Amino acid sequence: MSPTFGRTSALLEIRGLAKRFGGVIAVDGLDLSVEAGEVRGLIGPNGSGKTTTINLVSALYRPDAGQVFLDGERIERLRPHEIAGRGVARTFQISKLFGNMTVLENVLVPALAELDRGARRAPEQIRERARRLLDLVLLDGLRDAPAKELSGGQSMLLQIARGLMLQPIRLFLMDEPFAGVHPTIKDTIMETILNANRDEGVTFLIVSHEMATLRRLASRVSVMHEGRLIAEGSFEAVANQPAVLEAYLGG
Ligand SMILES: Nc1ncnc2c1ncn2[C@@H]1O[C@H](COP(=O)(O)OP(=O)(O)OP(=O)(O)O)[C@@H](O)[C@H]1O
Ligand SMILES: [Mg+2]
Repeated sequence: MSPTFGRTSALLEIRGLAKRFGGVIAVDGLDLSVEAGEVRGLIGPNGSGKTTTINLVSALYRPDAGQVFLDGERIERLRPHEIAGRGVARTFQISKLFGNMTVLENVLVPALAELDRGARRAPEQIRERARRLLDLVLLDGLRDAPAKELSGGQSMLLQIARGLMLQPIRLFLMDEPFAGVHPTIKDTIMETILNANRDEGVTFLIVSHEMATLRRLASRVSVMHEGRLIAEGSFEAVANQPAVLEAYLGG
């Protein structure tokens, strides 16, 4: 395990993060920190590096440079399952559920990984948590259906329930959770996020183009452009910054 270094109060701290794909610099010296207990929005025009950032933090990609700290510990060289083991969950825009497995089985997957790491929770406790989460996201009635039968919005809800099965769950990264989702399901996603944040102290970093929705969830937003952080603060504060207007309107 990497030594603790440069500990700050932030749960997630990204320093000088960089990722290049051939000639494209997707993330270019990004500095970003998120405090424990926050719901933070991450916005920016198309191609500004938001998804790549989520992919770097969740260890889907290795960074070319920079550090990622989770509660003061370096995590940028860990593997995806190790990141999950530290309590970092994520959703994918294109769902990575197991289509032929049932809804309930999909939610139980993180608990299987937990058993591999030496289980602490009793099986009944795991099952009860799974059922409670499915109930919360309004999917308990579909628990025995194959996941491939779910709508896009229901699949997102299932991804969220699955992420919340991580024990402990500390940081939830979401990439466009509201894209193409029916308005009633959007409300359920929002309530689930707010519940997990309020009742379990889960910290969220949420990438979304849906400003009206994001604004109801996040009091602070970080704005990326060309792989860097260009503004941060309340929606009102960032909306009035010339660099933000230029990023969205210029180019
Ligand atoms: N796997 C990849 N291979 C090559 N180029 C990539 C890859 N992933 C991202 N890029 C490029 O990196 C840049 C940043 O992409 P990224 O997907 O992170 O942006 P984004 O902010 O999520 O955009 P959007 O809002 O459209 O989802 C873009 O120019 C993109 O084309
Ligand atoms: Mg993206």
